[in-house]
Amino acid sequence: MVSRVIPVDPFDLIIFGGTGDLAQRKILPALYRRFCAGQWHEDAKIIAAARSGHSAEDFRRMVAESLHRHASARDSQALIRFLQRVDYVPLDAMSTAGWELLGEKLSPNRVRAFYFSVGPSLFGSLAKRVRAYNLATEDTRIVVEKPFGHDLDSARELNATLAAHFDENQIYRIDHYLGKETVQNLMAVRFGNMLFEPLWNSQYVDHIQITVAETVGIAGREEYYERAGAMRDMMQNHLMQLLCLIAMEPPAKFDPDAVRDEKLKVIRALDPVEPHHIVRGQFAAGPDGPGYRECVGNPRSTTESYVALKAHISNWRWAGTPFYLRTGKRLVARSSVINVMFKDAPHSIFGEEAGRHANALSIRLQPNEGITLKVTIKEPGQGGMRLIDVPLDMSFAEALGPENQDPPDAYERLVMDVIRGNQTLFMRGDEVEAAWAWTDPIIAGWLARGDVPKPYDSGSTGPGDAELLMKRDGRHWQGIKP
Ligand code: BG6
Repeated sequence: MVSRVIPVDPFDLIIFGGTGDLAQRKILPALYRRFCAGQWHEDAKIIAAARSGHSAEDFRRMVAESLHRHASARDSQALIRFLQRVDYVPLDAMSTAGWELLGEKLSPNRVRAFYFSVGPSLFGSLAKRVRAYNLATEDTRIVVEKPFGHDLDSARELNATLAAHFDENQIYRIDHYLGKETVQNLMAVRFGNMLFEPLWNSQYVDHIQITVAETVGIAGREEYYERAGAMRDMMQNHLMQLLCLIAMEPPAKFDPDAVRDEKLKVIRALDPVEPHHIVRGQFAAGPDGPGYRECVGNPRSTTESYVALKAHISNWRWAGTPFYLRTGKRLVARSSVINVMFKDAPHSIFGEEAGRHANALSIRLQPNEGITLKVTIKEPGQGGMRLIDVPLDMSFAEALGPENQDPPDAYERLVMDVIRGNQTLFMRGDEVEAAWAWTDPIIAGWLARGDVPKPYDSGSTGPGDAELLMKRDGRHWQGIKP
């Protein structure tokens, strides 16, 4: 199966912070891949803007090197044509320098997207200057990255700052998890099949597990991470978005506000989390490297690199079904998976000796994307009616063919959606605020109690207390497998 490429209209994409890591590692490689796929027009322009006084030629050399490293750019003809579309303007977000020149480079009557690939402290001055220099047209969008705030107050402030200059329908807040092919597939699996939806509620589902495990540490991001921790870095956004997609009501249509309204309802229906339903962890030194505290150079750091919690959604569909969420760094394997654990059959006609069996649906988001449904069958052969569980296993790569082995990077989809003007996979301001409103009391509780995260071995499945969190409820985590 080959994906269909729907070309987008000509655009000017302005990347503030164009020399930065995100632009070089993610945004420009994503644009390059879409260019090679023929999705955007040869007239489109990418204008990077940053403080360094590079010439456009120097900048193109830098981009060529990044594309070589991050997009295996080898086809020199395509690379040359792509680089012809790339320009550079030295510009200062905080002063007048460079803004008029940027204005001169923009074309009239086409989509203009301003990508704020900079820290949130610059969002306000950039938004103000884009307006003050009359760079915004009818067809203008702005794109901002996480972290969108540090807590509810700062997120509100950022929303207000952006709202002073742009309408909500011009603001694209990125959570790159929403751009992942398999995360979008969650909606397709749920709402494209008759099979699952009737069972998708507390009457049939015992509990749901959402795991985002990483093997990486925090190298190169120590300062940011020490202030954020796993709760702010992953739980408040990526895991929250997964929870929303798994738990939301079917939207009437696949349209930005219909989808985001339903997600918002889930976040607003989340109960506050009880302190004894949360486990924080911090990785200790192991054979593959130093411990968290050594990494950040703070022997007393109480920042968590792991968090596991039990959440409840108080609504008709989910009352009584717990959601267990966990995420951590330096764990045994990289694995993002959602396990929907169904209840036991109400009565076993096979008697006690057949044991207890329940169905489970695993949706593997990365790596080895696919779906497994655990079903119960008779153990073959003589010896009475003995039951065993077997997996109905579908790997998307196998089912869809080798050309779908490597799903496109999330940024490819998201950047093209910005140009197309489709906000479905972007967070709305009220969604972000609601997520912080749920997260803030958890973090405030840790601070008030002087909570210290539990150490866990690098390369393990996380702190033992996370196992206890499940065990107390008579449940257990599914293994973290690559
Ligand atoms: C980022 C977090 O948003 O997501 C990182 O800041 C994390 O800490 C990353 O490693 C995980 O993304 P992915 O796409 O590798 O699962």
